[in-house]
Amino acid sequence: MLEEIKKHQTEAVREGESVDSVQKLEEFRLKYLSRKGLLNELFEKLKTVDKQEKGVTGKALNELKKTLEGIYEKKKSEFESGKDSAENISDYTLPGRTGNLGSKHLITQALEEIEDIFARIGFVTYEGFEIEDEYHNFDALNTPDYHPSRDMQDTFYIKSKDKSKRLLLRTHTSPAQIRIMEQQKPPIRVIVPGKCYRNEAISSRSLSMFHQIEGLYVDKDVTFAELKGTLDYFAKEFFGKDLKTRLRPSFFPFTEPSAEMDVECYLCKGKGCRICKHSGWLEILGCGMVDPNVFANVGYDPEEYTGFAFGMGIERTLMIKHGIPDIRMFYENDIRFLKQF
Ligand code: DAH
Repeated sequence: MLEEIKKHQTEAVREGESVDSVQKLEEFRLKYLSRKGLLNELFEKLKTVDKQEKGVTGKALNELKKTLEGIYEKKKSEFESGKDSAENISDYTLPGRTGNLGSKHLITQALEEIEDIFARIGFVTYEGFEIEDEYHNFDALNTPDYHPSRDMQDTFYIKSKDKSKRLLLRTHTSPAQIRIMEQQKPPIRVIVPGKCYRNEAISSRSLSMFHQIEGLYVDKDVTFAELKGTLDYFAKEFFGKDLKTRLRPSFFPFTEPSAEMDVECYLCKGKGCRICKHSGWLEILGCGMVDPNVFANVGYDPEEYTGFAFGMGIERTLMIKHGIPDIRMFYENDIRFLKQF
């Protein structure tokens, strides 16, 4: 038996050296070290050896065991520390590691989606100006200097050399209504996406820059029912068919009558909670029939034309749609947030 052990000793060392993959190492283990492996077989056999020879044979067998375990442990740690050879990379078809790909920001995606929803019912997209003058941002929209509603929107004014015009960062997208009507005759069906600015204290609910989408529809015999139908269509397309909406009377200087549209609270589904201040509803936009004074300011005959307009805050709308708790999250550029959309 001693001879047999010696033979295995040389063979195993040779075999051990040729182990160059995790798979071969496992074969080695199964052959020599597993429960049904050669080593256990030899230990079984040792029991049958003559007494005088037992000591020497046992010693040799223990040597063999040490050698085999040594080879196994050494190879195993080599593979674990990554020193394995190229042959061990078993799947050559795996794609390589790529860098992070950029994608559209949530706001851009939403603006495009809303533009698309309105394009399907004939609205074209128009871009207004972010730097406006006081006339287009306020006066032409039936909001003269003394009008209390100017206080609702804290304005960033811009120093300008031209004293005849006071420039400002637009506080809403509504001045684009005036720009379009100054240039075109009805029928008009436009939406205007873009940035707006207000000198607000920054909090979880307000920023000094945010986005709005404005809508304007002017033609002969446009009715409030069409306004309602259009907004209802929009809300169902954007929020999904089951979210309820409602119109509530309101006031804006440039529309008469005016209304606000609410959607059912995303959190409590209308039951009333902290988010919706226990009303069950969240406001998403302002709207109304274009005020005859506004038509007069752009040279349209208010007796001939009627129209509706609406304006909606994009961040606010997205906060409602996705349950985003803090408006600042849109602009912190945290990849973990952005990647979700
Ligand atoms: N400009 C309004 C605001 O920023 C929103 C608005 C209300 C726009 C009514 C409209 C409208 O076109 O008809 O709060």
